[in-house]
Amino acid sequence: MYLTKDEEKLLESDDPTLAKCMEILVALGEIFEAERLIPISSAHISGISYANIGEEGLEWIKGLKGKVRVKTTLNPAGMDLERWKDMGIREEFFRKQMEVISALKSLGVDPVLTCTPYYIQKPSFGEHLAWAESSAVVYANSILGARTNRESGISALASAIIGKTPYYGLHVDENRSPTVLVRVKGKVNTSLLGYVLGKELEGIPMFDFDVTPSEDELKHLGASLASTGGVGMFHVVGVTPEWNRYEVPSERLVFEPSDLKFDCEPDLVAIGCPHLSSRELRVIAEFVDRFDRVKIETWLFTSRKVYEECVDIIKKIECKGIKVFRDTCMVVSPATERFDCVLTDSGKALTYLPKLRKVCVGFADTFTCLRRAFGEA
Ligand code: F3S
Repeated sequence: MYLTKDEEKLLESDDPTLAKCMEILVALGEIFEAERLIPISSAHISGISYANIGEEGLEWIKGLKGKVRVKTTLNPAGMDLERWKDMGIREEFFRKQMEVISALKSLGVDPVLTCTPYYIQKPSFGEHLAWAESSAVVYANSILGARTNRESGISALASAIIGKTPYYGLHVDENRSPTVLVRVKGKVNTSLLGYVLGKELEGIPMFDFDVTPSEDELKHLGASLASTGGVGMFHVVGVTPEWNRYEVPSERLVFEPSDLKFDCEPDLVAIGCPHLSSRELRVIAEFVDRFDRVKIETWLFTSRKVYEECVDIIKKIECKGIKVFRDTCMVVSPATERFDCVLTDSGKALTYLPKLRKVCVGFADTFTCLRRAFGEA
């Protein structure tokens, strides 16, 4: 990979953090045959829950010195920073998680603690990014037309410190062209669609829907597609910003609503993977208005930023006995482990909860999940 004189100096720098970060980017670039590094406008770091990275990850982050060179945001942590006791988080975990966050803050990272950083600062069309968190990567590439590969937490942090990323994969025009046309018949649950198709697809799908999904439904499609497979972007005919820049693929597939069922007797209903938007919170508040109080423990997850914008809406939801948490989610928090079965509306949570939190999972659409929470389904 070609390096400028300045980049070579960073690689041989006496500063161990700069040298280490450059080594990571050069190794990545060489594996994927990138021709050079390109500047990025932002980075987003995932994998920061102490439940996932443990002591080893914490020590690695603490060993880094210096400052990030671009706007850098953080994925959810293992708990709500204020209501961690309500979640049943132990004090020891709280202290360790705060150490992770403070080590990252000292590098200049903004602890937004959300997987929806695009609700805080929306990247523009064509901007190059280094984002980890696969759901945010698919959203940025597909819905916003920004450009990022599916980074790991480590490579995103290295890019944040150097301000650059290797130029390969989804940064390059021709690698963004669709490889298969998926005709979707009728009205489907996009979370389930992504969950099923993610396992089958390689490359970049172009969807042709009978019923055009909302932006929130596309967010769920991307999150679940990326959870069961390696998809980093999709196109939607007539909707996403790059759908008509490329030829329509000759390979075709038809998807019809399926009866796939994932049922369980839930002791927790969990909604908000990816983090809820203000529109989703508003719809939930209107829906739960007709009910009295939940009969099953029910948790919603959103970002601190959206929470602050929706304080009144959240009050209406919480007076039904539902808890709305920030900074975390059902997948990255160890709090979920004390339950036996979690009912969720998220294809991504359906994929990861059994693996990471060792719980059974049921899946239903958002309103069915809520009806179950109130004992009505
Ligand atoms: Fe976000 Fe957690 Fe789901 S990080 S995408 S809510 S697994």
